[in-house]
Amino acid sequence: MTSAAQDHEQQVYPPSAAFTATANAGPELQAAADADRLAFWDTQARRLDWASPWSEVLDWSDAPVAKWFVGGELNVAYNCVDRHVLAGNGDRVAIHFEGEPGDTRSLTYNDLLAEVSKAANTFTELGLVAGDRVAIYMPMIPEAIVAMLACARLGLTHSVVFGGFSSHALRSRIDDAQAKLLVTVDGQWRRGAPAPLKAAADEAVTGAESIQHVLVVKRTGIDVEWTEGRDLWWHETVEKASDQHTAQPFDAEHPLFILYTSGTTGKPKGIIHTSGGYLTQASYTHHNVFDHKPGTDVYWCTADIGWVTGHTYIVYGPLSNGVTQVVYEGTPNSPNEHRHFEIIEKYGVSIYYTAPTLIRTFMKWGRAIPDAHDLSSIRLLGSVGEPINPEAWRWYREVIGANSAPIVDTWWQTETGAIMISPLPGVTATKPGSAMAPLPGISAKIVDDEAHELGHGGNGYLVLDQPWPAMLRGIWGDMDRYQQTYWSRYAEQGWYFAGDGAKYDEDGALWVLGRVDDVMNVSGHRISTSEVESALVSHPAVAEAAVVGAADETTGQGIVAFVILRENVENTGDQLVKDLRDHVAVEISPIAKPRQISVVPELPKTRSGKIMRRLLRDVAEGRELGDTSTLVDPAVFDAIRGLR
Ligand code: WTA
Repeated sequence: MTSAAQDHEQQVYPPSAAFTATANAGPELQAAADADRLAFWDTQARRLDWASPWSEVLDWSDAPVAKWFVGGELNVAYNCVDRHVLAGNGDRVAIHFEGEPGDTRSLTYNDLLAEVSKAANTFTELGLVAGDRVAIYMPMIPEAIVAMLACARLGLTHSVVFGGFSSHALRSRIDDAQAKLLVTVDGQWRRGAPAPLKAAADEAVTGAESIQHVLVVKRTGIDVEWTEGRDLWWHETVEKASDQHTAQPFDAEHPLFILYTSGTTGKPKGIIHTSGGYLTQASYTHHNVFDHKPGTDVYWCTADIGWVTGHTYIVYGPLSNGVTQVVYEGTPNSPNEHRHFEIIEKYGVSIYYTAPTLIRTFMKWGRAIPDAHDLSSIRLLGSVGEPINPEAWRWYREVIGANSAPIVDTWWQTETGAIMISPLPGVTATKPGSAMAPLPGISAKIVDDEAHELGHGGNGYLVLDQPWPAMLRGIWGDMDRYQQTYWSRYAEQGWYFAGDGAKYDEDGALWVLGRVDDVMNVSGHRISTSEVESALVSHPAVAEAAVVGAADETTGQGIVAFVILRENVENTGDQLVKDLRDHVAVEISPIAKPRQISVVPELPKTRSGKIMRRLLRDVAEGRELGDTSTLVDPAVFDAIRGLR
């Protein structure tokens, strides 16, 4: 890089005096956290309403399973709904819902309280009691949020399964958590047409012994199959139930939800989150990182509730802070590429939180589209899910943020529960592409294999060296895997291994460099290479498969697969590739479909039989091959390349 380019890369964007003057966050946060970290979290927990106090902020004696706010009791839904009503804000809009076909609904906090109470009464009538699990398989409609909050209200543990996942994926999650109730819809709107969802739900629950009822919201009005006794319509049950319900408090460590995420093996992990610590950090980060001002701001997080971002930054963080937010059901280009900007303009969105992959898509569509709209309401922009490249960062700030809105690049994970590393708007001078620094109260290190801390400039592994309130409490049904996955790499030090590479630059700004394990990041979605490999080898034509994430301009990474066919299987070319891609969609989800599949005669393996994905990535990205000296047969690449 030339020094001019380097200067450009290192350009710093200090906060404006005007923003700083009214910012929620100030330097005192870091000072307080530095002075006494646990006292700092004790203070933050008081953002919430507790039914009974805690005796200890953190009990780490059973590490790596933490107990935060020991003995404290609260109701999460009460904190997200009732208390705003009790404080006199019942008429404030909680949710501006924008349906894909153009239908709209606004729910105030009074409305939300009535809806959540009705759903809670129905769930109770169905015989569900605290500790039971409920699966939620729904598009982005208000009932999905109501269902989550009704679970929270009753101490039921929800497991939200992304509506884009297949029936197979849903079934394995229902079985793993032994869910008793499934909440779903008849169909969902996708690009102007209704797409069935109950059909997939039916397939998933056939033979699923734990499921007692399927509760169905009528969203599109399409025909559905009906199983009497098991299936119930939302409008015939929830909508007719009493809207009076008194929330009971639960222990701070009561499990709030399970959310499945991809790891390095084929089987998704059910990440467990609990109540008091999770809500504390969700609320604290939403308030300070997004500079959210209740009653004034209009907030929009474009995630889906099927992912952790939807849990923490659509449901729990924002609602605990009395937000007014937009919830949009559809895709950004339905009916055309103006949709997001129309929504921003229509509702006066002031805080907009999305993923780099969408920003890059907007760039591709061209700035004439956002430029055709009045986006002057925007005062803060957020990014999440993958590293944001400096070019996209600058475009985001200039085109969407009128060259003035601060950008918060927020690093966190399903496992961390809430934002961990991010600039604080009004406090931190930012650099395009850098997540800057751990938040006050959070501690992170960048280390090498031997646990030595790296100085500025060295690439290493990101570890979290202190427990944090929203941390996962384990993997559902598999505490050994919890220990093994996150805590064995730096067992001696007792550090959490995040699975990401990172570095500090010369000025001490933190850069997250991407996954260092076999997890791919496609459009901000976590997908494991081995999950796609197992889906491929479950097809009768495939003997062996190797999957890698190759750099992709828009989606961050794209899935590239190499397969060896079984003996006597004919390679039908495009037809076979299509069959295999469809098969992956059925086994996992359309989002896991490989971008490219090559049929190869052999896969590059080490002498110990390990597939060398690093070399396959070189091939997929069109690079010169790296070190092939440990390969059994380097000539295998001539064959692989010849085919591409
Ligand atoms: C990646 C999403 C760079 C990272 C909240 C992490 C990021 C994984 C960022 C977690 C960011 C998330 N910069 N990388 N700002 N945010 N990641 O569990 O690799 O879906 O480990 O949680 O996304 O993905 P998950």
